[in-house]
Amino acid sequence: MAGTQSPEPVTSPVPVNPPAPWWHHAVIYQVYVRSFADSDGDGIGDLPGITAHLDHLVELGVDALWITPFYRSPQHDHGYDVADYRAVDPLFGSLGDADALVARAHELGLRVIVDIVPNHTSSGHAWFLAALAAGPGSPERGRYLFRDGQGPGGDQPPNNWLSVFGGLAWDRVVEADGSPGQWYLHLFDSSQPDLDWRNPEVRAEFEDVLRFWLDRGVDGFRIDVAHSLIKVADLRDQIRDSDDRTAPILTDEGALVDPHVEDEPMWDQSEVHDIYRDWHRVLAAYPGDRMTVAEAWTRTPESMARYVRPDELSQSFNFAWLSTGWSAEAFRQVIEDTFSALDPVGSPPTWVLSNHDVIRHVTRYGGGERGLARARAGTLTMLGLPGSAYLYQGEELGLEQADVPVEARQDPIALRTGEVGRDGCRVPLPWGGTEPPYDFGPGVGQPWLPQPSDWAGLTVAAQAADPASTFSFYRAALRLRRLLPAEGIVMATSDPAGVLSYTRGDVRVVLNTGTVPVPLPAGDVLIASGPISQSGLSQSGSSQSGLSLPPDTAVWLRGGA
Ligand code: NOJ
Ligand code: MG
Repeated sequence: MAGTQSPEPVTSPVPVNPPAPWWHHAVIYQVYVRSFADSDGDGIGDLPGITAHLDHLVELGVDALWITPFYRSPQHDHGYDVADYRAVDPLFGSLGDADALVARAHELGLRVIVDIVPNHTSSGHAWFLAALAAGPGSPERGRYLFRDGQGPGGDQPPNNWLSVFGGLAWDRVVEADGSPGQWYLHLFDSSQPDLDWRNPEVRAEFEDVLRFWLDRGVDGFRIDVAHSLIKVADLRDQIRDSDDRTAPILTDEGALVDPHVEDEPMWDQSEVHDIYRDWHRVLAAYPGDRMTVAEAWTRTPESMARYVRPDELSQSFNFAWLSTGWSAEAFRQVIEDTFSALDPVGSPPTWVLSNHDVIRHVTRYGGGERGLARARAGTLTMLGLPGSAYLYQGEELGLEQADVPVEARQDPIALRTGEVGRDGCRVPLPWGGTEPPYDFGPGVGQPWLPQPSDWAGLTVAAQAADPASTFSFYRAALRLRRLLPAEGIVMATSDPAGVLSYTRGDVRVVLNTGTVPVPLPAGDVLIASGPISQSGLSQSGSSQSGLSLPPDTAVWLRGGA
């Protein structure tokens, strides 16, 4: 009898103001599995090594760890060439070790994010071996991007695309009868054939892989080259001026400038978002705040924001912050652009200064004492911002990019191009002792990449005992960060020139990227990235307190906001 019953009391299906998911304002520590800690003495980091050192992450004060790929892999790209997405490589341990790691991390209050590599498999994956055996036109080849070559005899690649790691993005196979055959696409190493994500079987397989790890209790996924899964359907040529695509260039100001071209038929195609809407549904069916973070080196803040629309992924790495040179104005611009792009989609930002693919930020900012001062100041500035901050193992020790000798280099970029490659940011961590392997593991001598001979003062053990160390500084900053309000947008200024300033609640963050000291604004100093000086100011430039903020230094002040 509609209309005569008294209306049901109105109840909200969700609590009013539910607490924000943990990843909205988290500090996430990236573990590069080969180089974090070795448990068995083979000189290569492994899962039990991580588990045994989780107390370091608790001591540091992070909320979560992201572990780079530890799945079965021939290791041509150190795990980013996956042969079995549901198995642990024996180099790193067993599935039982993965379960033990997740369980121990959860006991300690840490969340665990694992890496998923969907753009390509290893050429050693059962699917690729089946594709080679099955021949042209088969469903097995249809999981990858096999094409006939151009020109007489098909001996020219199907299009002009280049590999990110140097050379052509195509390799030609030999068919079962011994004749020269089709070509397959690999945007990275030739051992990393690209999958065809227009094939429903590929989509179903990866949803199942997500569930496999969600069922084991992981809290999220970092999605490798998230913007590359869909290519233009006809695989047309890329329009570009020259064929000399090279690695990013490091400017004198410490900016990383990617010499990318205007036309990118292999990146950031709009249909890729359908995949992430499907993945969103997969994760939403699980209890807890499971999350995803996209590694998508897209061209603009707006294109980054498209990956984190409410029905897609949780986060996307904000590489604009990492690529920025040492300039208050440039940092301010990134902050402003980031919030204006993300605000309409309602997603909190991320901030990152280092990872396993780029030159460590101490070195980007010039190295030595000045590089370290800038790195600490940049980090303190980043940690004050709303959103999540990603740290890369070793930055809490102030490590520089190591100089890996040519004969020791292992990065496929170095092997394909002869360039220096990424090994220098992947050298195993120094935990203690005075010579290699600096307690990285029970082995003797150098681990898989050689450690510098002058790291004795940089070990965790040496720094933990020193209140002035970079490790103690990170620890203090992460503890203070917990006092900041979780959400919010900040309005940043870069006035006077060279000085970035913003407020979070009652905390003011000030960074001096200039060449002269500036008056320190009013407020109690909560933490500074380096010494705050009394000297260096003319009478007229002096602050009320008589203190000044030296160049390459950042500070958090309370009460001055
Ligand atoms: C991005 C990863 O971070 C990098 O290390 C890897 O080489 C490529 N994707 C290819 O998987
Ligand atoms: Mg080992």
